[in-house]
Order: sequence, then C-alpha cells, then structure tokens
Amino acid sequence: MARPRVAITRPALPGEAIRRLADVAVVREWESRRPPTRAELTRLVSGIEGLICMSSERIDEEFLSTCPTLRVVSNLGVGFDNFDIGALTRRRIPAGNTPGVLAETTADLAWALILAAARRVTEAERVLRAGGWKSMDFDFMLGTDVFGATLGIFGYGAIGKAVARRAQGFGMRVNHYSRTKSSDGFSTWTPLSTLLAMSDIVTVHVPLTPETRQAMGQREFEQMKRSAIFVNTSRGAVVDQTALVRALRSGVIRAAGLDVYEQEPLSPEDPLLELHNCVLLPHIGSASASTRSRMVDLAVSNVVAGLKGETLPHCVNPDVYS
Ligand code: DGY
Repeated sequence: MARPRVAITRPALPGEAIRRLADVAVVREWESRRPPTRAELTRLVSGIEGLICMSSERIDEEFLSTCPTLRVVSNLGVGFDNFDIGALTRRRIPAGNTPGVLAETTADLAWALILAAARRVTEAERVLRAGGWKSMDFDFMLGTDVFGATLGIFGYGAIGKAVARRAQGFGMRVNHYSRTKSSDGFSTWTPLSTLLAMSDIVTVHVPLTPETRQAMGQREFEQMKRSAIFVNTSRGAVVDQTALVRALRSGVIRAAGLDVYEQEPLSPEDPLLELHNCVLLPHIGSASASTRSRMVDLAVSNVVAGLKGETLPHCVNPDVYS
C-alpha cells in the first residue's frame, strides 16, 4: 500500500522524530527559511494526508478546500489560534498541538524580557557598541528594580504559573488575572483593572481567542503606572500594537519587552523598531534546542496517530471523535 504523504512547513526540524515520521510516510518539506505564502502552501500540500505547520499558517475553510485529502494536522506549538476549529471539525480532521513541553522555556524568555526591559540591557549594549560609553556617569542608563517589585500576570496557565514561580527568587509580590478566580502559593487572583494599576511589571500569558484579541489597548496602558514595564510572549494580537507604540512614545508606560507581534515577521518599517525603550525578540519563546526537539516529537506523534486513524495524543478539537 502507498505510504501517506505528510507536508512540513519548515525545513530541517531538530530531533530524531522526523526519522520516525519518514518510516511511515513520504515527507515533503518546505525548503525555504521564510514561511510559505498561501499560494506556496497550497502547492506544498497538494495531495497530502498529514500536515505539520506553525502558527503563521492559517488553516481555515479556504485552505482546507484546497486540500481535500488532508486527514490530520498538527501545529508545532501550544497555541492554535491559526486553526479554524469549526472548519476542521466539520471536515472530521483532528488537529493537534504540543502542550506540556514549552512552558518552562517560554517562562525563561519572559524573564529575559522582564530583566532586559527593566534594566535597559539591550539599549545599554547598543550604546556601548556604538561607542557611546564615554565616562562613568552616575545617572547613566538608570533602570527599574525587579527585586521586590510587584508583578502582574495576565493569564495563569502553565506559562503564567512558571513565571510566577520564578518571581519568588526576586522577592516579588505576584498577582494574576485569569478566568478561574483561584490563587495559589505563588500568586493571588486579582481583578484585571486592579492588577494593571498596582503592577510594576505586567506580563501577558493568555492564548489568543476572540475574548483576548486586543485585550491590552490604550485604556489598559493608561491604567498602568507610568513606570510600568509591559512584557508579551503570548500572541501579538492580544495587544493593540498601535496603542502600545503610542504609550511607549508618550511615556504612558516606561518600557516594553516583546517576543510576538500583530504581523510576524516584524516589518522593517514597524514603528516599534524606532523605540529605544522596547526590547524586541523574534518570537523565540520556545526556542531552546531541547524544547524544540520535544515539540517536533509531539507534533510527529499527533500526525502518526492521525494517519493510523488513532486518537491524537494532543488533540485540540476532540469533538471530531464524537
Ligand atoms: C506556541 O507554542 O504557540 C509558540 O508560539 C510556538 O513557538
């Protein structure tokens, strides 16, 4: 019997799992470093049964109509806002993600942004490299203390909790806002407007849903302290980026650290690039070698299960089985 075909929208994924996939399927990889356009994606997936993709690929009704042979899809990531769950479920296509392996790695990066934005790490390095360190001025590159500060976490899933645990070492008061009104030994549930008003640092860890889209906008920035540091490692569209640029430019908040954007990759013309008080990373929250290998492993397990007609180990549309 002919082996099923599986397309992968990125080249050279790390880890051993791709070999496991190649044992059961014919693998067709996108070969460029840049993500495929919609037209290129349509060509890549022609006649395939399985797909491994990333959050930049929108798997919606229009896409699915161009790929009638598709039987299973898995994201390389825990977020699945790029999936039209209704459209996938209507077509009886199970969709998978990669939970449980990237929370600690992403929490580490949120902390890198917190520290870098508060202590002006990347800004100071840019000044030094440009020859701007001329004397030992006492008021040179003054930043904000992280130790002892109040941390506000918007979204208290696995990543938010991992961020809260790390805050203990910094002697912080930690509050969070989430739909579930419960506290634990690391953080206290707090209404969102109170959390925004009392936090020295606000960090975002919600998934992108219709409820969280643009949840952080002008009104929310104006509720924060003028000295606040704002960090986002979740999804760019949770934030009104135009309002954020305005808030950073006009001193409504002090600084930001971002790993995610409304448009990715970030355009070279984006106004964020002109702001000295904003640390910018290229969506690398889960990008450690071991975590990325584990993510590939889970995505492959999802696709292999789907091709065999078995339940995906990590299925985001379980209604597909009812
Ligand atoms: C996720 O897990 O959704 C990340 O954004 C992928 O790196």
